[in-house]
Amino acid sequence: MTFTTTAPGKIILFGEHAVVYGKPAIAVPVNHVQAQAMLEQTNSESGFRIVAPDLKRSYLLSEMDSSEPLAAIVRDTLAYLNQPIPNACLTVSSTIPLGRGLGSGAAISTAIARVLTQYFDQQISSHQVSSLVFNIEKLYHGTPSGIDNSVVAFAQPVYFVKGQPIKMMDVAQSLTFVIGDTGIVSPTHKVVGDLRQRWQANPSPYEDHFNDIAVLVDQAWVGIEQGVLGIWELGTLMNKNQILLEKLEVSSPELGRLITAAREAGATGAKLSGAGWGGNMIALAPAQPEAITEISQALLKAGATNIIITELQVNAMKIE
Ligand code: PMV
Repeated sequence: MTFTTTAPGKIILFGEHAVVYGKPAIAVPVNHVQAQAMLEQTNSESGFRIVAPDLKRSYLLSEMDSSEPLAAIVRDTLAYLNQPIPNACLTVSSTIPLGRGLGSGAAISTAIARVLTQYFDQQISSHQVSSLVFNIEKLYHGTPSGIDNSVVAFAQPVYFVKGQPIKMMDVAQSLTFVIGDTGIVSPTHKVVGDLRQRWQANPSPYEDHFNDIAVLVDQAWVGIEQGVLGIWELGTLMNKNQILLEKLEVSSPELGRLITAAREAGATGAKLSGAGWGGNMIALAPAQPEAITEISQALLKAGATNIIITELQVNAMKIE
């Protein structure tokens, strides 16, 4: 028997970094990129093999300790399900670029937790998946806020505050985002750790910036949920968020180039998304296909290595 599950990537629309310090943030799933986990039963005594062709890795679970994220999510999920290690082969693959702020680690862990649950014909809530994945995010990121595992495990737009019950967001107006990749791998723990050091050395200006970001996030939340802000107003909020991210020193010249190119090509707003210093930026586009094409072409011309166009659709279903 073979079981297959997938999990989406994600983008943070507003509030990255400040969310680590207890402020709200908004993130949405990106279904155009996916992580996949495939589990095949194998012969008795074969053990549990993990194969990651993208990473050119293949090993037995018994050979790997739990500092390795793939081995850790398998062990944690089996412990939660109260099941023994099966004789099986787990193959993981992903179209989500690694280390570029699109939630690849959370998506791989989510797909694995779900495929093991299917294999044992058990049920698991999205809350539980999110909590299992959060523990693995700590291996990837050190001090994650929990937003990546939340948006990916629920596969719904979320308004997230660390330590508070996650809120699924309604979407009153469909929004089109063009995502541009700088092609630069940026380890989240480094960017977050560096900011933490600067904040510790001089908390006051950083806390002002976090508070200012929180105000933007709440304005955007009301705007998106109630449809009271048009795309130009939401775009302006994104631009303001980008200015604050620059003040936090988490942007980069490459991100700046793509953001400027998108705005000049007609995006209503643009900002980095995720940890920054590289990875991806997002631009809010008018819905007309010509406008989207123009922004995409401008991003490619400005050096984007990849473009994803994603639509946040009206009335995203609420899963509690
Ligand atoms: O994993 P990334 O690169 O999308 O970054 C997550 C966003 C941060 O706010 C920078 C970190 C966090 O844990 O929330």
